[in-house]
This record gives sequence, C-alpha cells and structure tokens, in this order.
Amino acid sequence: MPPVSLQIIREEHASLAAVLQSLRLLMDQGPGDNPATFFDVTRAMLFYIDEFPERQHHPKESECLFPRVALCAPHVAEVIARLDKEHESGEAAVRELQHLLLGWELMGEGRREAFVQALGRYIDFYLNHMRLEETQVLPAAQAYLGPEDWAAVDAAFATNTNPLTHGRPRDPAYDRLFTRIAMRAPSPIGLG
Ligand SMILES: [Fe+2]
Ligand SMILES: [Fe+2]
Repeated sequence: MPPVSLQIIREEHASLAAVLQSLRLLMDQGPGDNPATFFDVTRAMLFYIDEFPERQHHPKESECLFPRVALCAPHVAEVIARLDKEHESGEAAVRELQHLLLGWELMGEGRREAFVQALGRYIDFYLNHMRLEETQVLPAAQAYLGPEDWAAVDAAFATNTNPLTHGRPRDPAYDRLFTRIAMRAPSPIGLG
C-alpha cells in the first residue's frame, strides 16, 4: 500500500483534472441562451480552484513534501524547483482568470476570446504540472522517503477537505460550493 498522502495527492489531482476538463467543455458550449447560469458556474469553478488546490494542495506539496524529496533524491531537485515556481505563480494566474471572466461578463463578447485563450493556457499548464509531479516527484518520494518523512507528510495531507474525494474529512461549506457546481457543470463532474 502506498502512503496515504500519496493516495490523497493522486485523488486531488484527479478531481482537479475533472474540474479543468469540465471547464473546457463548458467553454465549448458557451453561454448559449442562459448566460447567467454559464457565468455563475464558471465563476464557482474558478473560485473552487482558487480555494482548494491553491490553498490546501499546492502549499502542502511545497512546504512538506518537496523539500524532503529534494533532500533524499537530488536527481529530481531541478524538477522540484520548477514545480515550486509554478506553485508561486498559480494563485495569481487563477485570480487573473477570474478578472478576465468578469471582463467578459460585464463588457461583453469583445472580451470573450481573451478569457477563453487564457483559460486554455491555464488548463494545459496545470495538466502538465500534475503530470510532472506524478511521473517524477511521487515515484521518487515513494522510493526514497523514510517512515518519519511519511508520518509528517501523511499528517499534513490528512486534514485536506476536498469535496470531490470520498472518505476524507469534509467541510460543509466546500460541500455546498461543490453541489452548486455539480448541479450545472458538464461532465465529468456535473450533471449539466
Ligand atoms: Fe503541485
Ligand atoms: Fe500536486
């Protein structure tokens, strides 16, 4: 059995990938004849990304997991430095997207392309980021970290409250946010 924190990280990646994929489908569908719902659910999904991965997932990777892996497995230190930099810029990127979305909603179609392009780049960037973690950092962690490292990393990730991962701690406020998204978003996360 891999350490519980590695399972949690993989689950959180899968749920973020699902949100990103659903956002992409939503952009393909466009606002149609129900722009209020379209902007509401897009905004809720960006808010979720800002709240959950940016505040719970990435900081714990950068603060707790990455330094231990860089120490035990110096061959991945360079990749880790790159991922840390990406974590630092991630929050600003999702805030910028929220601003561009507001521009589209309030200023009209002339702002649509700017948002759709920026979102597309962001989705590619994040899928790539997670792929790099899963193919390089997590295997190195599993091979080189010791029991004391895992105790600390497991403890850090065990308190994450992701509404999309089952059997983990819950936070009713996140659950409500997620219900709001799932009611209207396209698959894979939603019913819309
Ligand atoms: Fe990350
Ligand atoms: Fe990650």
